[in-house]
Amino acid sequence: MDTSGISEIQNAFDDAVKTVADKKSLQDLKIEYLGKKGKVTGLMKEMKNLSNEDRPAYGAAVNEVRSHITSVIEEKETALANEALEARLKEETIDVSLPGRTFRLGSPHPLSRTIEDIEDFFIGLGYEIAEGYEVETDYFNFEALNLPKSHPARDMQDSFYFSEDILLRTHTSPVQARTMQARKGQGPVKVICPGKVYRRDSDDATHSHQFTQIEGLVVDRNIHMSDLKGTLELFAKEMFGPDREIRLRPSYFPFTEPSVEVDISCFKCKGAGCNVCKRSGWIEILGSGMVHPNVLEMAGFDPDEYSGFAFGMGPDRIAMLKYGIEDIRNFYTNDLRFINQFKAMEDGGDQSESI
Ligand code: DAH
Repeated sequence: MDTSGISEIQNAFDDAVKTVADKKSLQDLKIEYLGKKGKVTGLMKEMKNLSNEDRPAYGAAVNEVRSHITSVIEEKETALANEALEARLKEETIDVSLPGRTFRLGSPHPLSRTIEDIEDFFIGLGYEIAEGYEVETDYFNFEALNLPKSHPARDMQDSFYFSEDILLRTHTSPVQARTMQARKGQGPVKVICPGKVYRRDSDDATHSHQFTQIEGLVVDRNIHMSDLKGTLELFAKEMFGPDREIRLRPSYFPFTEPSVEVDISCFKCKGAGCNVCKRSGWIEILGSGMVHPNVLEMAGFDPDEYSGFAFGMGPDRIAMLKYGIEDIRNFYTNDLRFINQFKAMEDGGDQSESI
């Protein structure tokens, strides 16, 4: 009896199974040999052509091949399943020795912090916070502040105009006029108005086309220059340290009369002269003055009955001085490396003495 066909099939299977590397090819191989039309099944079908004497031995040989192939396939199945499991476990391994993920805490923007500090101070003195519009009319931005259309002082504030009568406000002073108008000639008015302002400046270390201002306005009966001076002196001490003094220099603003520029004694050199105060011992921090009677009148207040003082300061400049920041653009580029430096000041302590 010739059983060479049987061993050929077994050898072919043994070769083929060696190259199988995945479940799908193993399944295909199983069908190729053990399936209904498979090679081993084909060998069984040969039985009917054999003589009675040959049949048992042939049958036994085929059975042997079949059980060989079956067990090799089973082994291979188990091996493949184990490999897959191991690969998955490896992939999902958790390295418990790795450091955990930390939460990154944000910190308030130094400009927001400065504005809040200034607000807190004035709220403590009984001021309210008033808000206006960043897109403003020519009337409130200029005319109501004693700056008629042809006024040369308009040139001091290069503006972004949308149309002849609408522009991005160049200062927070229009909020003065709006607030007074809303009060319908009845004092007292005691407000500060923080907000963004815009000017057609070319951006450099000390100029930005967008920056912030805080306007202050007090209108009541019997308001004098001494009220202005006392308020701003207290403010200087609060923001820049208890030893600060202020100095008023005559100046000009169309909306105040008289007008003053307010300087503080230098907090760095205490008046001796340094780079912060440009060797003068004094640092200019804001513009101020007694509200011009025309401004009171236009907003519906009787200048014979009421008087007031106003001031306008730049939190950008104040924050730059307070925290030793040299470039105003740092406030607006939102580089976390810059902002995160202010985390340590979270306690709200007075920083000016440590500059
Ligand atoms: N509005 C002025 C500016 O932007 C600042 C200012 C000066 C505001 C004097 C005032 C003031 O209220 O009294 O340059």
